[in-house]
Amino acid sequence: MSGSAILVSCSALPEGDGDEHAVPEALADLGFKTRWAAWDDTTVDFGAADIVVPRATWDYAERRDEFLSWAESVPTLANSAEVARWNTDKSYLAELGDAGVAIVPTTLIAPEDDAPRWPKGDFVLKPAIGAGSRGAGKFTSGAAAVAHLESLHAEGHTAVLQPYQSSVDTEGELALVYLGGVYSHAFSKAAMLGRELDESGLYVTEKLAPVQPAAKFRALAEDVLDATSALLGILRAELLYARVDLVAGPDGRPLLLELELVEPSLGFRQTDASAVWRFASAVRQQLS
Ligand SMILES: Nc1ncnc2c1ncn2[C@@H]1O[C@H](COP(=O)(O)OP(=O)(O)O)[C@@H](O)[C@H]1O
Ligand SMILES: [Mg+2]
Repeated sequence: MSGSAILVSCSALPEGDGDEHAVPEALADLGFKTRWAAWDDTTVDFGAADIVVPRATWDYAERRDEFLSWAESVPTLANSAEVARWNTDKSYLAELGDAGVAIVPTTLIAPEDDAPRWPKGDFVLKPAIGAGSRGAGKFTSGAAAVAHLESLHAEGHTAVLQPYQSSVDTEGELALVYLGGVYSHAFSKAAMLGRELDESGLYVTEKLAPVQPAAKFRALAEDVLDATSALLGILRAELLYARVDLVAGPDGRPLLLELELVEPSLGFRQTDASAVWRFASAVRQQLS
């Protein structure tokens, strides 16, 4: 069997940030010819590829409608355009919460809504449609947060309000990576707020490290995948990749901070070489 794959990036980072550097060779081992292309490169025939995999489309947040119509034009997109539509708006968190998943308490504040009752401790305000930590801020009082809420609303964003999870400062976030619906590996991510933007301006520079997640984190991530596939009406195996970002809540129990199904870094550099083989195998599975 042979095929063609496109790894999708953005014009500012045409081959991503380097995390996938071993992926083309792992795909070549299984008969795939692989190239990179920016999603908005109109000279590329995405429809001709056997599989099209968003990996570093990190400029979509400001152009979500355009990005989603591009996604809908690519029949072999993995993950699919339907998944991208659902997952690019953090209101999916509330849906997962309603489905019984333990999420970081999340309040959505649309531009037409009144200012909320601010939480007592530190809290976070961030755009519902956003990536790379851009537009996310940590606040200690409503007085300090009002201007940020107004600026998010002025840009047309619904704002996401969450209590600040201080475990990100000590333990960090845990990112659990699933390939073809099956657990692959995990890494930790140090606290992001207050750090600098990368020179591309697209994301805040991350501090990552490999980690072996405790059972309670692995179990919650499994619940997240099951609930997501039920909500979307798909099989877990239809998700080529998923990254489940968890934090320890105030009582130590894990909570879902974010589920990334569009363009998460999969942390291949944070784990052993066989993760890219699992990724290539999962790509092959999508075509069978
Ligand atoms: N409720 C929260 N508590 C603590 N830190 C948070 C919280 N929400 C966001 N952050 C910090 O901001 C970063 C970006 O927020 P996140 O929800 O992951 O959005 P995105 O990655 O899509 O920009 C996180 O990686 C984390 O460091
Ligand atoms: Mg995140």
